Amino acid sequence: MNGKNSGIVIFGGTGDLAYRKLMPALYNLFGTSKLGNDKIIAIGRREYTQEEYHHIIHEWIKQYSRIKYDEKTFLEFSNKVFYYKMNFTELDEYEALAKYFKQKEITNPIFYYAVAPEYFEVITDGVMSIQECCHGRIIIEKPFGDSLEQANQLSEKLEKSFGKENIYRIDHYLGKEMIRNIETIRFDNPIFANNWNYEGIENVQIQALEEVGVETRGNYYDHAGALKDMVQNHLMQILTLVAMEKPTADISISDRQVEVLKSLRSVGSLVIEDSLVLGQYEGYKNELNVASDSNTETYAALKLFIDNRRWKEVPFYIKTGKKTGSREMNVIITFKKVNPDVQANVLTIKIQPLEGISLKFNMKEPGDSEKVIQTEMDFCQSCIARNRINTPEAYERLLLQCMQGDQSWFSEWGQIYLSWKYIDELKEEYKKQELPIYEYEQNSTGPREVDQILNDESHVWAQSQLICKM
Ligand code: BG6
Repeated sequence: MNGKNSGIVIFGGTGDLAYRKLMPALYNLFGTSKLGNDKIIAIGRREYTQEEYHHIIHEWIKQYSRIKYDEKTFLEFSNKVFYYKMNFTELDEYEALAKYFKQKEITNPIFYYAVAPEYFEVITDGVMSIQECCHGRIIIEKPFGDSLEQANQLSEKLEKSFGKENIYRIDHYLGKEMIRNIETIRFDNPIFANNWNYEGIENVQIQALEEVGVETRGNYYDHAGALKDMVQNHLMQILTLVAMEKPTADISISDRQVEVLKSLRSVGSLVIEDSLVLGQYEGYKNELNVASDSNTETYAALKLFIDNRRWKEVPFYIKTGKKTGSREMNVIITFKKVNPDVQANVLTIKIQPLEGISLKFNMKEPGDSEKVIQTEMDFCQSCIARNRINTPEAYERLLLQCMQGDQSWFSEWGQIYLSWKYIDELKEEYKKQELPIYEYEQNSTGPREVDQILNDESHVWAQSQLICKM
């Protein structure tokens, strides 16, 4: 770990992210003896005693922790959790925070910005003002700012003030088990590695469907939309992991991902209506804190191309949406057929809720028949109880990496900047061409028009993989 004086300081200690994700993740780390001596300081503006705060997180941890909850472990854990009331937008309150750190013997904290991006700037100023006592690392989440320009400035400021090596830009998808597995599946299996290019692959699909709508996040979501909320970050991360060249000792994953982003076919060379379809679920405009005439998309389907030697004309189809009736995320690789009479091999990497991998391939029908039939090998990793218990959750894994000073699964600003800029341009062009936001029924698979971006009838959207066949 980070030494005996480190601590995790959460700005936004009474927010949804802290309650739902961070506290359970920290509890998991504690319960598996990985938290070391780190203290946790939860900063919020509300008036809570330590006991009240512990009581609140107790409920969330019970509901969301991965490891088995027990009172004794929670009690030991809560002894490390301190609630600190402050108004983090008031710069003159940081001096007192520094004194508090001294009292708690924290000199090397990790500052987690679990607040809306409009507060990033002021928190950065505050944290900079106490740098002498407590120089630390910063974990920052998307959206990294209100606009690309503002996020860019903030990023420069953060790197200048704390050093690039201390900025951890988190994308929780990079902590998911099967997303971490893409590299291994691709590069450690010659049957895939040798065919992972335009000669072997017909198309790639990345599908991320959600059962939930915008819930209580209308305020944020109505400004973001599916493209910014899911595609620009999580799904572009996946796309680049699927498409990148193999990282080496000198070339990091993030550098490899940047290479892919730089090779994306420029928005100016795309026919927009063949490349992007946006939708909105019925009833979205009536959601809490959503504008009654909102044009925000809750669904997006894209077809992108990577113009490099590996990918040539292979389409990368992406589709994501809210209120689609079920929660499911898969990466589906359809290989080229050896001849038109047989079916394609299809590799599905199941990210969630089931974790695993399946492969469709051709065989002779059993018996006297010479007919070729398609069959499937299906490995459901998450159906094996032991695996479930051993697999850390996304935030748990990434927090631990940050504590260990390992930046390998965190993103560089350059990477985020490129995908943000690309998606902004795409959306801008869609708007400029006055293309429609198609309405779709709740609990449906999305607008029918998503089919219009498929290259031809031989390309179809892959169907649900939700059945565990083990
Ligand atoms: C978040 C988005 O980043 O990811 C949410 O803001 C989305 O809108 C969520 O629901 C999905 O994450 P997961 O881990 O549930 O797939």
